[in-house]
Amino acid sequence: MNKFVVNGGKQLNGEVTISGAKNAAVAIIPGVILCDEPCRVENIPNISDVTLIGTILKEMGADVKRVNKSTLDIDPRNIRTHEATTDLVRGMRASYYLLGALLGRFGKAKVLLPGGCNFGVRPIDQHLKGFEAMGCTHEISDGAIDIKSSGGKLKGNNIYLDVVSVGTTINLMLAAVKARGLTVIENAAREPHIVDLANFLNSMGADIMGAGTSVIKIRGVKSLHGTDYSIIPDQIEAGTYMVAAAATMGDVLIENVIPKHLESIIAKLTEAGARVEEYDEAVRVTTTHRPKSCNIKTMPHPGFPTDMQPQIATLLSVAEGTSIVTEGVWDNRFKYVDQLTGMGAKIQVDGKMAVITGVKKLTSAPVKAVDLRAGAAMIIAGLMTDGITEVENI
Ligand code: EPZ
Repeated sequence: MNKFVVNGGKQLNGEVTISGAKNAAVAIIPGVILCDEPCRVENIPNISDVTLIGTILKEMGADVKRVNKSTLDIDPRNIRTHEATTDLVRGMRASYYLLGALLGRFGKAKVLLPGGCNFGVRPIDQHLKGFEAMGCTHEISDGAIDIKSSGGKLKGNNIYLDVVSVGTTINLMLAAVKARGLTVIENAAREPHIVDLANFLNSMGADIMGAGTSVIKIRGVKSLHGTDYSIIPDQIEAGTYMVAAAATMGDVLIENVIPKHLESIIAKLTEAGARVEEYDEAVRVTTTHRPKSCNIKTMPHPGFPTDMQPQIATLLSVAEGTSIVTEGVWDNRFKYVDQLTGMGAKIQVDGKMAVITGVKKLTSAPVKAVDLRAGAAMIIAGLMTDGITEVENI
């Protein structure tokens, strides 16, 4: 089994360049299915999710070429099937964006139900509610979801999301781009990667307004032309390095960021006593003393990102004083806490709230990565000890 071996006790000093946003890439790449011409997508992160979605598109008939480490040329014209039922689909949560893209192109879609990080139930009821509102019926059988629109093409409608959902907002946007008429998504998610997807689709000739606000309007268009689009930098990767710098009392320049996307992270790190200098496309984090305690409540954007919750909680586990971290998005995103307590952290979890009593130092112990972001937090925890920490199940 793969593992990380972290030799702790060293300050992080120097600079790091942030790559393209994972959660934008896994939405934009399926979005190419909607296009009637080849597209070039740049600043793609070099991660397994991207390789996976590229392979799935290839298996469906697309021509996918990696031009260099961070650029993909995708020609979707030979995609003849509306089915994505290869086992690869189970490997990633974001595979369900294939539903929206295939519905947008073919008016029907059949996709294996996805896997992905497990922190509580990850329903898709809002996605299905939106597709139904656009004239679709669906059935779930043999682990796949089969959706059809009555008239062979989706029709625009007003959809109010019961819960602010990134995946639903993205999936409905993809399905609405070539639907008949106007679709309005209310109570939409406002994450940077949603704005990035809208900008990508509009660069192909889509007609989307309001992305980044809680009301997004999509007017259906007949066809989409090719584009050459560069993905935004990853807000969570940048935030993770910022926390790692603060956790090791280091001095790190984090380059290729959009500081506006990091506002809530900068505010909280500053409250915890770090010094954060903002530049046009970079932030610099320096810390000279033990972090101060502070309270965190994760919320949909522009609130503090839930995908930064394990990382900031790890930093606060050695803060002076007691911090309260409230998880406002997921039902059960504290599974990693058991790993931290094994390293000497003092954390009480009660439902969606974790009370963290700061200790002076963590001690190294064998830990597991219970999900993607928790894995990053375990590496930060290892960096904070003076010993060697092995992180398994990466
Ligand atoms: C996306 O997941 C991200 N994944 C997650 O990041 C992130 O934690 C999450 O958004 C919130 O920002 C990708 O973008 C691939 P949601 P998603 O739909 O879309 C409930 C990472 O580490 N809900 O915004 O699945 C849901 O249970 C990953 O990069 C419904 O009830 O999240 C949750 O409580 C981890 N019904 C809340 O909404 C639905 O139909 C927000 O979920 C859909 C969601």
